[in-house]
Amino acid sequence: MNSNLANTGLEPEKLPSHIAVIMDGNGRWAQKRFLNRIKGHEKGADTVRMVVRTCREIGIQFLTLYAFSTENWERPKAEITALMTLLKRFLADEKQEMLENNIRLNAIGQTDRLSAEVQQALGDTMNATASNNGMCLNLALSYGGRAEIVEAVKKIGARIKNGEIDAESITPELITQHLYTAEMPDPELLIRTSGEFRISNFLLWQIAYSEIHVTPTLWPDMTREELIGILKDYQQRERRFGRVT
Ligand code: FPP
Repeated sequence: MNSNLANTGLEPEKLPSHIAVIMDGNGRWAQKRFLNRIKGHEKGADTVRMVVRTCREIGIQFLTLYAFSTENWERPKAEITALMTLLKRFLADEKQEMLENNIRLNAIGQTDRLSAEVQQALGDTMNATASNNGMCLNLALSYGGRAEIVEAVKKIGARIKNGEIDAESITPELITQHLYTAEMPDPELLIRTSGEFRISNFLLWQIAYSEIHVTPTLWPDMTREELIGILKDYQQRERRFGRVT
């Protein structure tokens, strides 16, 4: 067992291979302190660093973070600009750490809607880390679950039209293979911060059997200890997938 994991008291054989996180509450964290919402996102970016490091240390294979949704394009321009600046800074600053820690960066979503500069930074870090196999950090950027399913259906439709497959061959596995997350297992655990019981158009297909953990903690206040506690709680759960025990 790796020593970082041994120190946590977690059971290695019961770790999720894929954790997905809805990082919510940056705005409220800032409002509570009479600060601009952007300060909340800055503090939230520090939490991202801590969560990435912790998941890597304990041996999580896939970590998907909901960093920017298709709906987030409706936010005030200044907030979008600040989020994109934070993202660029994160990509540039963390590239070295990702290389040192064998982390591969991946992005899911309508990334062609991001600015040329952000796409460049993203492509640069993704290329640099492409051969890493320790953990995949999967950033959901300009991501929407319904849009992802629509894109998959269009791709399948095109394959039917050109005679490559027929409609009878559409199965859940085939749909899975046409999603952005085709290469990944479904998340066993979905975490949402800030106490809201919503899915917010995140990984709609993939979370069919995910265990959901909602914590009232605002994202910038999330700690390593709480994250380990959430994983311990997950390890106590009985996953039945609709069957009986
Ligand atoms: C939700 O909080 C959070 C977001 C919309 C963006 C998440 C972004 C970060 C955590 C920081 C940057 C990301 C990276 C990868 C460096 P909210 O603004 O909806 O909070 P509220 O519900 O309290 O208003």
